[in-house]
Amino acid sequence: MSATAPAIYTTQPVSVPRTGTLQWWHTAVIYQVYPRSFADSNGDGLGDLPGITARLGHLSRLGVDALWLSPFYTSPQADHGYDVADYRDVDPIFGTLADADALLDRAHQLGLRVVVDLVPNHTSDAHVWFQQALAAAPGSPERERYMFRDGRGEAGELPPNNWESVFGGPAWTRTTNADGSPGQWYLHIFDVRQPDLNWANEEIRQEFRDVLRFWLDRGVDGFRVDVAHGMVKEEGLPDWAGHSAMISEAESGETEESGPDAQDDVDLGNAGPMWNQPGVHEIYRDWHGVLAEYGADKMLVAEAWVSPLPELAKYVRPDEMQQAFNFAFLASHWHAGELRGVIEHSVQVNDTVGAPTTWVLSNHDVVRHATRFGLPSAGGNVEPVGPDDRQPDAELGLRRARAATLLMLALPGSAYLYQGEELGLPEATRLPFDVRQDPTIARGGGLGRDGCRVPIPWEAAAPSFGFSPTGESWLPQPEEYGRYALDAQKGDPASTYEFYRRALRMRRDYALGSGGLAWIDVDHPDVLGLANGELVVLANTGAEQIRLPEGLEPLLSSIELDQHGDGAIFLPGDATLWALRTQSEVGRKPFGPD
Ligand code: NOJ
Repeated sequence: MSATAPAIYTTQPVSVPRTGTLQWWHTAVIYQVYPRSFADSNGDGLGDLPGITARLGHLSRLGVDALWLSPFYTSPQADHGYDVADYRDVDPIFGTLADADALLDRAHQLGLRVVVDLVPNHTSDAHVWFQQALAAAPGSPERERYMFRDGRGEAGELPPNNWESVFGGPAWTRTTNADGSPGQWYLHIFDVRQPDLNWANEEIRQEFRDVLRFWLDRGVDGFRVDVAHGMVKEEGLPDWAGHSAMISEAESGETEESGPDAQDDVDLGNAGPMWNQPGVHEIYRDWHGVLAEYGADKMLVAEAWVSPLPELAKYVRPDEMQQAFNFAFLASHWHAGELRGVIEHSVQVNDTVGAPTTWVLSNHDVVRHATRFGLPSAGGNVEPVGPDDRQPDAELGLRRARAATLLMLALPGSAYLYQGEELGLPEATRLPFDVRQDPTIARGGGLGRDGCRVPIPWEAAAPSFGFSPTGESWLPQPEEYGRYALDAQKGDPASTYEFYRRALRMRRDYALGSGGLAWIDVDHPDVLGLANGELVVLANTGAEQIRLPEGLEPLLSSIELDQHGDGAIFLPGDATLWALRTQSEVGRKPFGPD
């Protein structure tokens, strides 16, 4: 424990406050709903749209601005909805189009915007277009909607190139002709049941303009674009022996020694000829125009595993999308220097194109951050954890997760939350192998992503913790989830839920989303200091507590501060503090130890 407060100094500002017309998406906190696992209204153990509508009050009380719904369209659910068979209808397991309309209405009544998922890189193999393509001859217009090719080798017995699927195994599958003879091959960058569309075909472009208008006409406020960096493939489909994945620890090249600039060089798997081709940008300029027909407040957010950050910023140029997920931030470790490097670079590159920077720590594809931060790596986009693996330190993970969230919510721009994180929910790491359903498992993709998709707990004492009226749940919920149930946390000031509510309210009150960012250099390697408007933020990523300098009035901390009899206040290790300056010079000029 150090008895003296570290010296703190202001550095140059990183970004200035946003001026001019503010759209909601410049600053919004957007809550991701994974419909299968949010709330089940009909008792079949799968979440559904009426279940979500009935629980929208939770989001409005929490204090978010919008929700993003993962896919609820007609789908055989081979990739839990990211395999769409009909882009203009709702799958019966989730409800009906009328249920979607009712959800939109209720959300809007509550002042919540609604972003829906769009999956344009591939369809389901059950899509009528793919069925027609299989039935049609090579070279036919039906086949031109997808990526069909003749095989290599004497009898076409080898795939057209050596590409691997993101989910493992070859990215090509051979078809069988009507007479039973082996036919052409089709490309699927993901699962065999997710054939890639041919975006060189104008018919596809027209179809997706129409799909955008279909949902805009129903009142949606924006779209999250799945695999936004994958739709255009390099001419000639050249061989590429790499394996791309939604990032993993090994791929990112991150180590314990990750330094301030480490994330700049993270390889997010975009090096292959199927990723980040210049031609994708034409599609987004086109869609920008479609959204503009409905006003300036509609938005597109790119899910693009692209690096380095300046490449990602191309997706959010003024005439393209409005936002792109910042996965470099998600993949960071709980390390002051590394976080500072990623934050600074993210803000700077987005400023060059005038786009809001986004921040995200968890989603339905990665290990929940309350678990990641409790692993020896202290974060990074780690591989899923299974029952036979070393288990995370749940207490430390949650403590750091709250600290990381408080840091994130102080940053200017737009932030994404994933359902359950407001409860401090950990990953279900002990899910037995035989209940796991992620299609990546069958393709050699390890443990899959089920651990972050387990239905969330609402009521500690109810069957399936209030997820479903019958107590059914498509994935078993760990017993410990009862402790995290919403009703067990409501009204308890120490709970993670009440902590999120306070943070979200203050983020709004202090207009942090549209604020500017300045670093406050702190003479301590584990402490990240920043200012956003009046607010001073200190994130202590080390284990040792630090004494707060005088002249700071604590507003909110991720864990209780330690007050000593002599009036000294300490910020514990693995904690973040929001404070106001009570002496104007704090954080503005050199501030010495006492
Ligand atoms: C990204 C989605 O987030 C993920 O869940 C899905 O499996 C792939 N794209 C393929 O659509």
